[in-house]
Amino acid sequence: MKYQVLVLVVALFCTPVVPQSPQTRPSYIKSCDEKNPNFKTCALENANYAIPFIVKGDKQVGIPRLDPLDLPLIEIEHNNFKLSLKDVQVSGLKDIKVTSIDLGRTGFDAVFHIENLNIIGTYDIDGKVLLLTLKGQGPANITAVGGDYHVKAKIEPYQKNDIEYLKFVDPQIDFTLTRAYFNFENILNGNQELGSEINQLLNENWQDVLNDLGAPIKETVTRIIESIVSKILERVPANEIL
Ligand SMILES: *[C@@H]1O[C@H](CO)[C@@H](O)[C@H](O)[C@H]1NC(C)=O
Repeated sequence: MKYQVLVLVVALFCTPVVPQSPQTRPSYIKSCDEKNPNFKTCALENANYAIPFIVKGDKQVGIPRLDPLDLPLIEIEHNNFKLSLKDVQVSGLKDIKVTSIDLGRTGFDAVFHIENLNIIGTYDIDGKVLLLTLKGQGPANITAVGGDYHVKAKIEPYQKNDIEYLKFVDPQIDFTLTRAYFNFENILNGNQELGSEINQLLNENWQDVLNDLGAPIKETVTRIIESIVSKILERVPANEIL
């Protein structure tokens, strides 16, 4: 199913960058020679090596601590469906693993595995899911188990001070889960019995509701990966990565 999603991830990664000389690059970013036949294996090893450093946060690059990660707002809107999550806390990113990666001067293609991604926040929902009209506000818990997130993006080389850098453009993500759990407390504005029946129905039909309720998972992961990769590529010249 195709739909339009409008997402606002306000102030994601607004951590100020500590001023420093532009040539310093994060020491956990290692290069792989793209002409080497083992390039993909090398890139995979290096990406997984870098993850624990990135997850702790790197002020010099402007990456905040990622687990837990606080996001002020995620907002999704399509057709007649609206879902916003405020004061969001995302956890589980510390166990992120890259299972395949290909990076070149034209494209980026990688799969990230996140075993347990948990998104907690205050929701406001108004719209149809399955055949139900959902309306309400309250605490929300969205949990994505066994996620494989396939990220594809264009890469555009550009010059800055006569040095070649790579730009990460227009990431697209597809994902599969082994299970999703949803809990929207106070749905239908406080009808307890109906509320727990609705949550039960959403969980029994988790795969069918992912089209609508999966949007926060998809957009959160996309924006986080986009921010991290972009911040690193902004600082590290192409020839120190490829
Ligand atoms: C969120 O839901 C998951 C899955 O049901 C559960 O394991 C976790 O404890 C919940 N977290 C909170 C803070 O309620």
